[in-house]
Order: sequence, then structure tokens, then C-alpha cells
Amino acid sequence: MSTPLRLGIAGLGTVGAGVVKIVRQKGNLLADRAGCPVTISAVSARDKDKDRGVTLSQYAWEDAPVALATRDDIDVYVELMGGADGPAKASVEAALKAGKDVVTANKAMLAHHGQMLAQLAEDHGAVLRFEAAVAGGIPVIKALTEGLAGNDMDRVMGVMNGTCNYILTRMQSAGLPYAEVFEEANQLGYLEADPTLDVGGIDAGHKLALLASVAFGTQVDFAAVELEGIERITIDDITQAADMGYRIKLLGVAQMSGRGLEQRMSPCLVPATSPLGQLEGGTNMVVLEGDQVEQVVLRGPGAGEGPTASAVMGDVMDIARGFRVSTFGVPAGSLSETTPAKTATPAPYYLRLSLEDKPGALAKLASVLGDAGVSIDRMRQYRHDAGAAPILIVTHKTTRDALDAAITGMDRLDVVKDAPVALRIETV
Ligand code: NAP
Ligand code: HSE
Repeated sequence: MSTPLRLGIAGLGTVGAGVVKIVRQKGNLLADRAGCPVTISAVSARDKDKDRGVTLSQYAWEDAPVALATRDDIDVYVELMGGADGPAKASVEAALKAGKDVVTANKAMLAHHGQMLAQLAEDHGAVLRFEAAVAGGIPVIKALTEGLAGNDMDRVMGVMNGTCNYILTRMQSAGLPYAEVFEEANQLGYLEADPTLDVGGIDAGHKLALLASVAFGTQVDFAAVELEGIERITIDDITQAADMGYRIKLLGVAQMSGRGLEQRMSPCLVPATSPLGQLEGGTNMVVLEGDQVEQVVLRGPGAGEGPTASAVMGDVMDIARGFRVSTFGVPAGSLSETTPAKTATPAPYYLRLSLEDKPGALAKLASVLGDAGVSIDRMRQYRHDAGAAPILIVTHKTTRDALDAAITGMDRLDVVKDAPVALRIETV
């Protein structure tokens, strides 16, 4: 059999330990499939003595990831430490400059530095792969760059943060408030060290920016992703949405139109009967729409040791087989600079607000909506809370600008208590 493909793995936490286990346990299978053995030469993490549930004694140890990345006895540098900057970025840059191929699961680093790193890889004849960074175990990057390569993509969508989907579906099934389910997710260890990465939509926004780049051949532009988290979603929203036949999902949507590239990561209402509406718990789903294929739906685990290591190994195996594809599907220099769409495609919106329960309050609200050109499709006053009347409105299709103008008008009304919650109703 031919020369082995030698890995250097930096980061031996959840994902890194999972990758080591696959390489150790599936040596014959990997060699048969790749046409060469896949081996590990050296590893790196912070604590050399930590028990990681896997034997590491036969691999060389490097304290410094940069030293690991540039060793002569590695062909592929596998970066599984995380962090947008710091040792992850420094070591990936060092590996690419040394002409090493790189596989990473690091969505934060690529969302911020993807274009620069893709260019660096090309300049040094290396490949940079990141399947595990988007929707964990779902092979969505391969689906776009290979299986769907003959399509012009129209829209890509996804539920790509398992923690948020767990929180939202658990609120619905157990009838529990957000704060209680958030704490439950915390106890279960689902939340990132900085939970705002999850519930603020940032982690999922990173993934959407990468997906959009591959789908539309554009430079990664995380700064242009409209981000909104799930922190303001109440059990009332979940119940009211369910009553109308919807589910609330933290949904990422990237769509190219004449107005430019729209990238939104926000809580949306989707039909309860749609595949996205039926997605329960921590599972991820990605919906890919192309001009030839129409719609492809991929569903699977978005996180965890096995699923994420599985995606890392998919990239490693491509390299072992000699399959070399540009980081974002086309050469870095051909990725176009995105023109972010100034305003999102019009859609119906769900609006929840609390009005003072007194004569004329509703009339003032209706007048503000009318002045902004927002038309009401359905409206419901569904309870009375100590002088306040919770109001639910579903608008006809409108622009986000018109809705924002209406919300600004509402903020000025003395009868509106608290800032209204506005959720887009997405056609899926
Ligand atoms: P993790 O469990 O926290 O492990 C991180 C590893 O990196 C640890 O082994 C740590 O060493 C090592 N490390 C951190 N800083 C280091 C440094 N300065 N020098 C050397 N080693 C360092 O993280 P993870 O969950 O495996 O995630 C790894 C990457 O995969 C991240 O980019 C993450 O976003 C991505 N990802 C994770 C998942 C998932 O389900 N976990 C899913 C998709 C993508 P010590 O162990 O010695 O502290
Ligand atoms: N915090 C992420 C999630 C981990 O909940 O999906 C995987 O990226």
C-alpha cells in the first residue's frame, strides 16, 4: 500500500479525541477506502497529562500548536482547538504557509478570516477544508460543492444550532418558560462557554456565512449577517404560533436576489408540518434550493464527538484520496465581494406587544401600522394582565423597513408597554 497520510492534531477535546478514536479504531477501513493508511504523527493540547479516554502515548507531543503545524512528519494539520484568533489562526496560517493541507471544525475562525485563509491556502498549493464547521455531522459542504455543483443555488436555509432548537422545542413540549429551559440546557452541558454564542445566534450566524459563501460563490461576509437571538421568545409566542399552525425556529436564510445577498439568522415562524417545523431537539437541518434540483433537505446531528469527528474525517479522507477542491468551492480570487441586500425579501410578520387596556389604545396601534403601510392580516387580543392587553398581529407581506417604521411609531405611543417582538414568517 502507498505512503501513509500523516495527521497532526491540535485540540484533543470533544472533537479531537473523537478523531483520534476513529483513526485508531478504523485503520483498515480508512486505508481500504483511501488507498493509503491514515496515521497520526503528533498531537497538541494545553494539558499533556489530562485523561482523554484514548491512548496518545505513541504520538509525539507538542505544547505549541504552531510547532505541530509545521512539523516535517505531518501532511495534514487538523485544527480542533477553536477560537476565531489566537493559536487556532496562528497555527493554521503557519501550516498553510508550510504547504500543509488543513482540516478544521472552527466556524468562528473561518467566519472572520475565511477569505484570507482560503487565499493563503491557494498561494501555497494547500487545501483548507471545514465540513465539520457547518451543521456538524451533516455533509452539507460536500453536498453543495460536489453533488449540487451543476446548480445555481437560489436559497439555503437551516436550523444550525442544536442548543437553540433544543430550547425552543423543549419550551413547546414541556410548556416551560425560556429561563427555565435555558438553565436545563446549561445543566445538560449544551451551552457554549459563552452562551450568547448559542442563544444570540452568533454560532449559527458563523455557519450561515460559510454556507452562503459556498452556495453563492461569494466572499465570507459574517458582518453582513442580520443576527437576532432567541432570548426574547416567550412561552406565549410558542403557544400562539402553534395555535396558528407554526413552530418557532432559529432559522438561517441566505438568498441571492437582484437586490444582493440576504443573510439572516433570526427566530422565524415556519409551518408546523414542514420538515423544518417538525425538527425536534438538538438535531440540525439544512435545506438547499437550486435551479435544477429544486429542494434537498439534509437532517442530522449538528454537534457531539462522533458526528463532528465524522465530518472531520470526511475531509481527511478526501485529501487522502487526492481529491482537492477550493475552500469555498471556487478559487479564492473568483469569490465575488458580496453586495449585502439593503432590505430583506418582503414577508408576513408575527408581532406581539402589550397594550394598555383602555379605550382607543387599539385604534392608535392600528393607525401607526397603517401610517407605515403595514397591513393587518389577523389580530387577536388573547388575555388581560393587570391592565395590560397582550395583542398578537399577523401582517400581510411587508418589508422589514416598513415594519421597523411601524415599531418605531409604536415605541412613541403611550399605550404600548415594552418593545414589541417581531418574527418573520418564512416560506419554506
Ligand atoms: P473542546 O472540547 O473545548 O476542546 C478544545 C481543545 O483544544 C482542548 O483539548 C484544549 O486543550 C485544546 N486547546 C485549547 N486552547 C489551546 C491552546 N492554546 N493550545 C493547545 N491546545 C489548546 O472543544 P471542541 O468542542 O472539541 O471544539 C473544537 C472545535 O470544533 C471548535 O472550533 C468548535 O467550534 C468546533 N465544533 C465543535 C463541535 C462540538 O460538537 N463540540 C461541533 C462543531 C464544531 P485541553 O484539553 O488541554 O484544555
Ligand atoms: N453550540 C453548537 C450547537 C455546537 O448547539 O449547535 C455545534 O456547533
